[in-house]
Amino acid sequence: MRKKIVAGNWKMNMDYEEGLSLFSEVVNMVHDEVTGKQHVVVCSPFIHLHSLAQLAKGNARVSVGAQNAHQAESGAFTGEISAKMIRSTGAEYVILGHSERRQYFGETNELLAKKVDTALQNSLNPIFCIGETLHEREANRHFTIIETQLAEGLFHLDAEHFGQIVIAYEPVWAIGTGVTATSAQAQEIHIFIRKQIAGQYGQEVADNTTILYGGSCNPKNAGDLFAQADIDGGLIGGASLKSRDFVDIVKTFN
Ligand code: PGA
Repeated sequence: MRKKIVAGNWKMNMDYEEGLSLFSEVVNMVHDEVTGKQHVVVCSPFIHLHSLAQLAKGNARVSVGAQNAHQAESGAFTGEISAKMIRSTGAEYVILGHSERRQYFGETNELLAKKVDTALQNSLNPIFCIGETLHEREANRHFTIIETQLAEGLFHLDAEHFGQIVIAYEPVWAIGTGVTATSAQAQEIHIFIRKQIAGQYGQEVADNTTILYGGSCNPKNAGDLFAQADIDGGLIGGASLKSRDFVDIVKTFN
């Protein structure tokens, strides 16, 4: 059975102390209130990773992740952070290909394929984000966009490495806008994603792949979204900055 995961993406929010208290609250609430088998991943800015990973040490329910990693192993890339450095903090996951990275930092599928390889070589589990813009959906190109993002970003992997990937479907028009995809719209794309994976790696691999939904997910709409057969959890932006809201979303799987 594939893992149910609720991941938080803090983006560029929370100074060091704020991040530590938010994470401590989340860990305590998860301990007290979560009864299911769902897994929680908190993707913080780099500065928090080591401290959060210390707090999460030995915690079977909560892991820590980064939001980006460089494609090179190491070298003269002033200001960048490598996958190896991230792994050395105790973090286990890394978000790659978030639409904000694609849009504001020019990250292409080709570059992301390299980032995926470097992350995997350093034992990080990529949370690989894909999704169409509003313009692409209106032009009825959303399936083609998703197909290309998967093929160019991930399908160079062999089945064993692909098994380490978590996919997050995040329609760009739903991120931070308050407009959520309907559960039917999200489920339609999740089925399509799983079909693409089955075509490439076979049905068993497809059935074992965790596919998250992201984009204005909140405690009110999470229930409907997560009840869909092919939605295995969420990647939560804004609502992950409030421990109560985030843990309420996690508890959808209780
Ligand atoms: P949002 O962000 O929940 O604030 O829409 C989701 C994301 O960007 O991962």
